[in-house]
Amino acid sequence: SSSATRNAAIKHITVIGGGLMGSGIAQVAASTGHTVVLVDQAEDILKKSAKGIEDSLKRIAKKKFADKPEAGAAFIQKTMKNLTTSTDAASVVHSTDLVLEAIVENLQVKHELFKTLDKFAPEHTVFASNTSSLSITEIANSTTRQDRFGGLHFFNPVPLMKLVEVIQTPMTSQKTFDALLDFSKALGKYPVSCKDTPGFIVNRLLVPYMVEAIRLHERGHGSKEDIDLAMKLGAGYPMGPFELLDYVGLDTSKFIIDGK
Ligand code: 3HC
Repeated sequence: SSSATRNAAIKHITVIGGGLMGSGIAQVAASTGHTVVLVDQAEDILKKSAKGIEDSLKRIAKKKFADKPEAGAAFIQKTMKNLTTSTDAASVVHSTDLVLEAIVENLQVKHELFKTLDKFAPEHTVFASNTSSLSITEIANSTTRQDRFGGLHFFNPVPLMKLVEVIQTPMTSQKTFDALLDFSKALGKYPVSCKDTPGFIVNRLLVPYMVEAIRLHERGHGSKEDIDLAMKLGAGYPMGPFELLDYVGLDTSKFIIDGK
């Protein structure tokens, strides 16, 4: 049977974490017709998230509807209508099909979050983490739904980057995995499948490359500017390694390098 009949589609999603990744994921899900609740700890953070989403939508609308400004305005309005915010995750997950977490890269904090939400979310709800440096299996172990738990790893900037890594742990059921693949496609992304291994695919290859660029520079073998230019013009990368380190954030990069 087709995957559409195999799985009840993920329509209503809860995104935990209003930072760059969470906001980006919420934006893409809302713009592809999903009902989205974006959750963070404080109203002022959520206000900033909503502003970032609106700014990004404007940039997209300007390009996508270049000669149809009314259609662009309608696209932004429709997307924002699909999106609400909340500071209380436990009270909004009762009707959600997917809880997607994009909070701080701290196992303890993620454990506490999922342990709580496991009690409030319905049976069918799938849990997923956008972590780039922690084990999905270990995060899932804080819940009683390890079969309905997987990884959904997005890339910055989420509205533009077409890839999603879909991570299957030894406990993730095939039904859950298929639902996550279908959801990624419904977002207009291209999913790749990966086991629960440090760095998954992209960071496993990208992070050693960025670290090697730092070492090359530290040995005094090339300036940051020349290394960036070399990789842009010599390898066709959109950003050089130092530009990309700054873009990802040195804190996030360090988390991944230290990866457990
Ligand atoms: N929302 C909407 N539109 C955006 C946007 C956003 N957040 N960011 C950029 N854009 C738009 C711009 O408005 C611009 O539109 P235009 O063509 O109409 O002017 C267009 O995208 C191109 O942007 P720029 O001209 O500013 O710059 P670039 O051509 O360099 O493109 C880029 C920007 C897509 C970010 C490109 O530089 C790129 O692909 N960089 C590499 C990004 C990358 O490798 N990301 C992965 C990092 S690893 C990761 O995320 C994993 C995690 O675990 C750490």
